[in-house]
Amino acid sequence: MKTIIISSSTSSSSKSFILCKEVLIKLKERNIDCDLLDVRDLDLKTSHESKTPSMLEAIEKINKADNLVIGMGVHNYSINDSLKIMLDTCFDNVNGKFFGVLCAAGGEKSYLATMHLTQICMSQWKMIQLPRIVYATGKDFSENKISSQITRDWMTEFVNEFILIGKKLMS
Ligand SMILES: Cc1cc2nc3c(=O)[nH]c(=O)nc-3n(C[C@H](O)[C@H](O)[C@H](O)COP(=O)(O)O)c2cc1C
Repeated sequence: MKTIIISSSTSSSSKSFILCKEVLIKLKERNIDCDLLDVRDLDLKTSHESKTPSMLEAIEKINKADNLVIGMGVHNYSINDSLKIMLDTCFDNVNGKFFGVLCAAGGEKSYLATMHLTQICMSQWKMIQLPRIVYATGKDFSENKISSQITRDWMTEFVNEFILIGKKLMS
């Protein structure tokens, strides 16, 4: 199976990016063919503008993937701005694909924000979501690393289940 991990935060100190990097390492350790798409590397334009070459490359990568992991930061109890632009412009060919969510937030009470991503992906493209979501806050990180053992264990479970269900859905 081929997996694309989309890190959708434009923050230079993004915590959801740290989660994405960790999942990339763990998937590679399990010999999964996977790649990380970092939105900070894209010249991202809105849906009312022309797609840039880097956006076209991103679309190609997303099209070729069997399944996706989406990293997001919470903004105002919802998905972050650049993820919404990615969904509006780069999700051309994701019908029915399996996906998992990695979420970074400032506080512990915004966990329902990921449901907005679920609603969009399920309603628009009939995508299937891994029920386990990694939700981490500032206190789970230190010196740009995941410091919380609970979050680390949760990530391991996330990767195990993502591979298990991802492979089953392909057979
Ligand atoms: C505009 C904005 C709105 C935010 N709104 C929320 C919020 O509603 N709930 C919350 O827990 N954190 C909120 N935060 C904090 C971010 O979720 C937190 O900084 C997280 O680390 C962002 O992910 P990132 O580091 O990958 O960009 C907000 C941050 C910004 C910049």
